[in-house]
Amino acid sequence: MKRNINYNIFRFVCRAISIVSTVILITNTSIAQTKPTNVSLNIERRIDSLLKKMTIEEKAGQLTQYTGDRVTATGPLGKPIDKLDEIKAGRIGSLLNVRGALQTRKMQEAALQSRLKIPLLFGLDVIHGYRVTFPIPLAEAASWDLQAIEQSAKIAAKEAAAWGIHWTFAPMVDISRDPRWGRVTEGAGEDTYLGSMIAIARVKGFQGESLGDTNAVMACVKHFAAYGAAVGGRDYNSVDMSNQQLWEVYLPPFKAAVDAGAATFMNSFNLLNGVPATGNSYLQRDILKGKWNFKGFVVSDWNSIGEMVPHGFAKDKYEAAQYAIAAGSDMDMESSAYIANLEKLVADKKITLAVINDAVRRVLRKKFELGLFDDPFRFCSEARERITLNAKEHHDAARDMARKSIVLLKNENNLLPLSSSVKRIAVIGPLAKSGVDMKGAWSVKWEADSLVSLYDGLKARLGDNTILNYAKGCGIKDSSRDGFNEAVNAAMNSEVVIIAVGESFDMSGEAKSRSNIHLPGVQEELIKAIHATGKPMIILIMAGRPLIFNWTADNAPAILYAWFLGSEAGHAITDVLFGDYNPSAKLPISFPRAEGQIPVFYNHMNTGRPVVNEANITYRSAYIDLPNTPKFAFGYGLSYTSFGYENLEISKSKIKRADSFTVSFTLKNTGKYKGEEIVQLYIRDKIASIARPVKELKGFKKIELNPGESKVIAFSITTEKLSFYNNDLKWISEPGEFSLMIGSASDDSKLQGEFELID
Ligand code: BGC
Repeated sequence: MKRNINYNIFRFVCRAISIVSTVILITNTSIAQTKPTNVSLNIERRIDSLLKKMTIEEKAGQLTQYTGDRVTATGPLGKPIDKLDEIKAGRIGSLLNVRGALQTRKMQEAALQSRLKIPLLFGLDVIHGYRVTFPIPLAEAASWDLQAIEQSAKIAAKEAAAWGIHWTFAPMVDISRDPRWGRVTEGAGEDTYLGSMIAIARVKGFQGESLGDTNAVMACVKHFAAYGAAVGGRDYNSVDMSNQQLWEVYLPPFKAAVDAGAATFMNSFNLLNGVPATGNSYLQRDILKGKWNFKGFVVSDWNSIGEMVPHGFAKDKYEAAQYAIAAGSDMDMESSAYIANLEKLVADKKITLAVINDAVRRVLRKKFELGLFDDPFRFCSEARERITLNAKEHHDAARDMARKSIVLLKNENNLLPLSSSVKRIAVIGPLAKSGVDMKGAWSVKWEADSLVSLYDGLKARLGDNTILNYAKGCGIKDSSRDGFNEAVNAAMNSEVVIIAVGESFDMSGEAKSRSNIHLPGVQEELIKAIHATGKPMIILIMAGRPLIFNWTADNAPAILYAWFLGSEAGHAITDVLFGDYNPSAKLPISFPRAEGQIPVFYNHMNTGRPVVNEANITYRSAYIDLPNTPKFAFGYGLSYTSFGYENLEISKSKIKRADSFTVSFTLKNTGKYKGEEIVQLYIRDKIASIARPVKELKGFKKIELNPGESKVIAFSITTEKLSFYNNDLKWISEPGEFSLMIGSASDDSKLQGEFELID
């Protein structure tokens, strides 16, 4: 009992401090602003004058967001309300899931009938394409191609904006080391450096040159923070982590997105060390709006304010609203906690008006920057809508992005690429003719007729010159082997077999955690049955996450990991199968051998008893039943050609803090095909006051070479790349020895060197 009282006093004091620090922060950040331009000064003045006219209820309205469409809801729904009436009463500031020029216009017209005529913001989860679906974000991350990723976001934004959307709830920049978590599909994988680079590319792509461009949308960087570390990979689960790990691994992509100009943030469902992210002042006030000087607004995740009650953090929605607004959650998605309680919270002196004004100012600022006060309908044009969607160049970009995302995991005896002269191909597997699964999770305005299956892609390239012997073989999850015979016959009647297996599109994504990530159903048995025919076979694995398929990995001669590649999937896979595109992708996340290894990731610690020799693991940090290493490591991926690495040169072997130095080497295409190699630079700080990982990615480049061609590749290394957070969370570098590794995967260093940082 005594402990409870003490704990309650502690929580009360924390909250009091957080409310006081909120007020201080709001005052300080307005002082800390960089010198405003005339345009932004003008906007701030217009906001001042609006704020003076607004009632507290109207202010709460600006901070309230609902779904306009109960069908596409992604969480629990409140009581149905008449949205148009509420909009006219000034009690809604934003809607999600309303799309189309006609629909958004109708809602916006209602907003113009409200007392102050404040326009609405329309948000939507435009995650990987809009009408033209691009590869799932994890697949795009496998391309390591920042330009292509930026272009993909740009096209998604263009199509969405033509449909009246102002704001996408993307990019998701959550680092995750857990493939059981269904939402790995939406992120950039396990690595902080790669994830940060991709976060920047996506923000730039979505937002274009500046807010207000009607071909672009506002980005919403999510989920702040540490959502990708949910215990056990179970969605919405709690997170407990050290500040060290939070700052080093999970926060940098968010910081990179702020620096790239991201307009908004979304917080997350999880507890972080006992405090819900939504009610977390440390994350939202101290770090995001304080230290990082973020000027945009934060939207809660779906009902995450209301969910602070079942979390056991707030007694009821009244308290939840108090803690959320005090902690810096500016807009309430779907929990109605703000509209129902903010006015009373002010009357009860639980929240100051200054806190509410700051949140409203942040929301209004974005509406001004988007130009909505000058023309609330500037994004809703039926004419633009008709001409923008589904353009040929959008499909071309989606195909290019898709082929850049396919990872070649194995290619024994150069089985791939296939020759165009092959006359009979067996096309087998539950995903071989599926178009709909190619869209992956979170696809928006997809239409079945423009999702190209593998079979259709092959047919389009090969026409009638090649016979395609199709057999489904089995379902994705079923246990029936009834189709095996037909599949075996198809294989027997063909020169080569392509087998498409994996997950269905709805087995990954939000609330799609899996405890068993092996190839589902009897698919691996189907592969064994075909293998027994002795026919050469190529396995295509389609999934929203890393799967486990050890037997296949050890026995199939050729394997391509094809994720869910979007509208152009079938064409892109065919391009790779026949060598029209030479695969270049590299895994952005480690593939475990067994679920029991998870989390398995490349930048782990060494431990005091590392495994030096797999043959002797007695009293070592090891599993007695399987190796520590993943089946396929972060950064791994093959090409149809081969690359040689030589002549490592380090310009200085001793550097001072203010110095930088260059590491260079020669990369040569030693094979027969033109191809691209993603060269990776890893660094290890050997001894430090906070022990460092065995290696960390610090740079990469994608280099294209013709057969026989070579190029000198250089990386510049500054002290920044050698720094880390110390015990006081200060970003520091320490003198000492470092090793650097350059190679084609995290487990394949081709060149190694040493250098020293001196005082
Ligand atoms: C998800 C968010 C998404 C929101 C709106 C939530 O359930 O966690 O990522 O943006 O729904 O659809």
